[in-house]
Amino acid sequence: NMHVQVVQNQTAGGLAGFKVFENALDNGAQVLGLATGSTPVTIYDELAASDLDFSRLTSINLDEYVGLTADHPQSYHYFMQQHLFNAKPFAHSFVPDGMNPDADEETQLYDALIKANPIDLQLLGLGQNGHIGFNEPGTDPTSTTHKVALTESTIEANARFFDNADEVPRYAYSMGIGSILKAKQILMVAYGAAKADAVAAMLQGPVTPDVPASYLQTHPNVTVILDQAAASKLN
Ligand code: F6R
Repeated sequence: NMHVQVVQNQTAGGLAGFKVFENALDNGAQVLGLATGSTPVTIYDELAASDLDFSRLTSINLDEYVGLTADHPQSYHYFMQQHLFNAKPFAHSFVPDGMNPDADEETQLYDALIKANPIDLQLLGLGQNGHIGFNEPGTDPTSTTHKVALTESTIEANARFFDNADEVPRYAYSMGIGSILKAKQILMVAYGAAKADAVAAMLQGPVTPDVPASYLQTHPNVTVILDQAAASKLN
């Protein structure tokens, strides 16, 4: 039940992804699950430029860095404001509160929020190692929202965006694989040759904790949008 669509490039992917959102809204979607990163940007551009109305809808983001305020330029709150919410405000937009020092409280609140507002369409990007959200290989597939220790390589990769090393987040709050799989529909998007191995493992490999995205094979309604480079290792 995974429907794969291969597009020319990220611009075409933006339009294809936009259409998935438009259809979901036509079919009465009320709650949209959103992601950050480079992949969704062209979809958000299309949504921001469209005449779709989000003012009665709810959005719920996948994840946020622990310790960053909503107005920190590297926070996912800030990313969402810049790429979508300033142009298209929702009635309610939820991103985990990275400034809540009480991880149990924050993650339980977030799961309660997802339970009260079941996600109709969840947008996902794909990590080169097959991660979804901040669920790295090895994450329990039944996991709910939890606090994640970032890997050394992620911390190092992020360091260039911060004034000094102390400011680089060490942890994130992330929906779990189990939380993600509760969405009624999932839109997974991946571009570029660097994602090709993860794409093949996600779609054609075994369902395994080694590839968190492989659990999408167990979901009844997944649309996958790829560019040709990301699709290049599919059989
Ligand atoms: C973002 C997220 C991550 C990214 C993934 C791909 O909210 O949870 O899992 O979707 O790391 O990132 P990009 O799109 O930058 O390649």
